[in-house]
Formats: sequence, C-alpha cells, structure tokens
Amino acid sequence: MKVVLGVSGGIAAYKACELLRLFTESGHEVRVVPTREALRFVGEPTWAALSGHPVSSEVWDDVHEVPHVRIGQGADLVVVAPATADVLARAAHGLAGDLLTNTLLTARCPVVFAPAMHTEMWQHPATRANVATLRERGSIVIDPAVGRLTGADTGPGRLPDPAEIFQVCLRVLRGRPRDLAGRKVVISAGGTREPIDPVRYIGNRSSGLQGYALARTAVARGAEVTVVAANVALPDPAGATVVRVESTAELRDAVLTAAPGADVVVMAAAVADFRPAVRHDSKIKKTDGEPEAIALVKNPDVLAELGQSRGARGPYPEVIVGFAAETDDVLANGQAKLARKGCDLLVVNEVGPGLAFGTPDNAAVVLVAGGEPVEVPRGPKEDVADVVWDLVASRLA
Ligand code: CTP
Repeated sequence: MKVVLGVSGGIAAYKACELLRLFTESGHEVRVVPTREALRFVGEPTWAALSGHPVSSEVWDDVHEVPHVRIGQGADLVVVAPATADVLARAAHGLAGDLLTNTLLTARCPVVFAPAMHTEMWQHPATRANVATLRERGSIVIDPAVGRLTGADTGPGRLPDPAEIFQVCLRVLRGRPRDLAGRKVVISAGGTREPIDPVRYIGNRSSGLQGYALARTAVARGAEVTVVAANVALPDPAGATVVRVESTAELRDAVLTAAPGADVVVMAAAVADFRPAVRHDSKIKKTDGEPEAIALVKNPDVLAELGQSRGARGPYPEVIVGFAAETDDVLANGQAKLARKGCDLLVVNEVGPGLAFGTPDNAAVVLVAGGEPVEVPRGPKEDVADVVWDLVASRLA
C-alpha cells in the first residue's frame, strides 16, 4: 500500500523514523513529506535513505511531476506524525503553503493525525476547535499520550509509541469504517489482583491483549477510548486514556466513574470473584505448624451492576459487552451468563492450556441478546475486536 508520512516540526520528529521503518519493513511504499520546520529536527538524507524516495517540503521541486497533487491523489493513507498545533491549524483551515498541506487537500484516502505538543497548546481552545473540525471531516486524530514532554514538563502531549500509531494505521488501511466517530467507549482490560499481604496477591493469567486490541481497533474506528487497565504490562494503546488499577474495588470505581458518560462499556478484564477477607498489613511469616487458611469473601460483580443500573442512572451506557471465559459447556454457560448479567453482547472464549490467555490469537463466539450468535474463527485478537465493534455499531445505529 502507498503511505504518505507527513512529519511536522516538533521534537518527536525523530520518533517518526521508527514509524517509517515499521511501514517499509512490512512492505509498504512510503513517501515522506516533512515540513520545513521538521527538517530542522531530522534532515532530508535520513528520510530519503529510510524511505528510498526523494524528499521535499516544497511544491517547487520536480514541478513537471506535479507533486503537490499527485502525492496525495496516489496515497492509500496519509499519516501525519508528529502533527504540531500549527499543522493541525493549517489542515483545519485548508491552507496550502507547502507540500504537506497540499497533499492533505488532494488526498481522498483516510488521514490519521498523531499530534504531539506541549499540554497548553493541546488544550488551547484554538487547537481543540481545529481537532474537532478535522474529526468532523472524517480524519482520525489520535489523542496524545500523557507523560514527560520536552524540558521538565509532564502532561498530555507526548507522541504515542510509534508501534502503537502503526497499529492504528494498519487498521485504518484495512478499510474499517469510522462508525464509532464521536462515541465514547470504556474498556476494562487485564486481570485484577487481590492483596493478601504487602507482597502477595491472588490473581489470574489475563494479559490485557484482548482489551488492548479492542482499544486499538476502537481508536481506528474513531471512538474516544478510556481503558481501565488492571495490571497490564503492555505499551499504552495509541489515542486511549489509560486508567491504571490493581484490585477489583479499584476497577469497579474506575469503570463506574467512566460509564455514565460512555456510549459503550466493554468488560474484557478478568475480574477476581473473591478476595481475601483480611488484608494483612505486614508480611505473613512462615511458622512451624500448618499454614493458616485464607478466608475469602465475594467481590461485587461489576458487569452485573452495570446491567442493573442501566436506565436507573440515565440512558448510558447504551451498549454493554461482557466476556466469559469458560472451560466446559461453553455455549450453554455463555447463554446463561448473558441473561444473568444483563448485557447486550457476550464474547465467549474457551480457555485452557494455550488458549486465550497471553496469546495473540483468539477464537470466540459472540452471543447477542435477542439475536443469533456470531462465530469468530481463530485469528488475531483484533479480528475478534472488530466483530464486537461491528455488532456494537449496528446496535448504536
Ligand atoms: N465480571 C465482573 N465482575 C466480577 C466478575 C466478572 O464485572 N466480579 C465480568 C468480567 O469482566 C466478564 C464477565 O463478568 O466480562 C464474565 O466473567 P466470568 O468470570 O466469566 O463470569 P463469572 O460471573 O465470574 O461466572 P463464573 O466464574 O461462574 O463462570
């Protein structure tokens, strides 16, 4: 596929070199179009050598090839990373003072912006308005990550991990519809841990891969995504706000805080059903006799609570999606769970050795309240995620 990588003048321009390599190494043909300012951070020879194509910022080079029109016309995807406040403003207003902005005006393919700037600039009403305009016109604008910025500042404004931007671009290149544009989704991911004492916990094998795949695919389909991540050791999905939690109580707080404003809640996290009745403040020591049994108490069922509170607290969330990990009688148990928990969709996975947990692949059956089940053959967790979003989008519509 033909990709145009627009690079604008921010310090994160050096990270775009990695994004470029990810595209070229996976067989894409990439034309880099840096702004003049971007070339102050990373020079033309770097872009030319890594892309294998000539590089220009101006409309006045190779004029006989009409590059200001052809580059955009021929692209399957344009991604601008980093996108500065300045380039967002110029794109939103349709200015055409250089090769990149001309390319943005002539491209009829999907356009992805990955902004990076200082927090104040990102939060300025002018930038907010420009981002809203670009989104309304169908562009994907990936919210920046929160973290260390240039100098001593921290806050929203960091360019997300290039590998995660690449994942969003791959989904967009696959031609997924932007049918979640303007929708707010909350996704719980990972597995909760229930402390026994300061060093030990009861936990489970959930890696967060399925929840993060749901987040990535939702961002690529235009959603505003909040991930409630329970003990996930994966890079943050680009464009998602990540709230980190450890225990079921913390997960419940985070999900129930975010849910009332969301259109969709997906409970992909493996939530511990029980927790130790007592959390010891100091480490339990080994004693000579038999160890003391750990008494357990039941945790609240967050998914069932969401299902029950729907309507009582307002119209949201409109769609609730649960997951079920089953080892036996997979479908019958799933149907019963769908009804019991009051959700709209239930993704049923068979779990066991080498299945589901910690693997990049998954096979599932999605049970639909009042509808036919949808089978998803074994494949990347993103494929399961896209089937879920297809069903969610049709329910929202
Ligand atoms: N879940 C939840 N709160 C809990 C337990 C589970 O919100 N305390 C959610 C999970 O996030 C998942 C769904 O419920 O979306 C199903 O979880 P599962 O563990 O399969 O179901 P259980 O209700 O625990 O039933 P069982 O263990 O008997 O199969």
